[in-house]
Amino acid sequence: MGVDLYFTLGELDPADVQNRTVVVVDVLRATSTIVEALANGARAIYPTTGTEEAIKLISSLGRDDTLLCGERRGLKIEGYDLGNSPAEFTREKVDGKRIVMNTTNGTQALVAVAGADRVFTGSFMNLSAVAKAVAGTDDLTVVCAGRGGRFSLDDAVCAGAILARLGTEWAKDSDTSDAARVALQLATHATVDAAFLAETAGGRNLVEIGMEADLELCATVDRHVLAPAMVDGTIRLLPGKGT
Ligand code: MLT
Repeated sequence: MGVDLYFTLGELDPADVQNRTVVVVDVLRATSTIVEALANGARAIYPTTGTEEAIKLISSLGRDDTLLCGERRGLKIEGYDLGNSPAEFTREKVDGKRIVMNTTNGTQALVAVAGADRVFTGSFMNLSAVAKAVAGTDDLTVVCAGRGGRFSLDDAVCAGAILARLGTEWAKDSDTSDAARVALQLATHATVDAAFLAETAGGRNLVEIGMEADLELCATVDRHVLAPAMVDGTIRLLPGKGT
């Protein structure tokens, strides 16, 4: 089982993930928010690449049971129902709702891999469940959303932590990329907690905008035993596959 890994979106050519199983990671905060929203009863999440596409999609879906959610520089986009803090996606707010999501990095990554065979979303909050969902696949690619096309330590460590839960055979495989091995090394030497996330570029931004409380939530390992899956551009919990 050769594992491939991308630390940034700039490296990724969507053709590279055709016929492969992909895990997209955006710890701060898109994939953390996605699993929190689905855990609180959201029916489906539609990642988009920008406001124009988001508005067009929500107009076609209808506003009755659909929320428009997203951020720029971490702050809720004006006129949107919610931002991108997992703490906002409470059962009271999202139960039974569909969510059109537009974020800076995470939703771009999800749209970029839409052509893959299978796509799951990974974060510290669903680490073991997503590892279980991809265990045994022999064509795994992990895509880190990064930040503005740059490397992000939180995503790299999370990617490595997911791989660490897949045993060691994949690391010996000649098809496994150096990037995947580096991610494992990073995860092996990291302590995952709010203090660690606060030191990352994404974490510092959240502290600056007064959203440091999200660091504790996003650092909570296995908060949810769920593996959200994207099928035809829509993210849901697949029956019987959540755990
Ligand atoms: C992103 O997609 O860029 C992040 O999730 C941004 C954020 O939530 O601050």
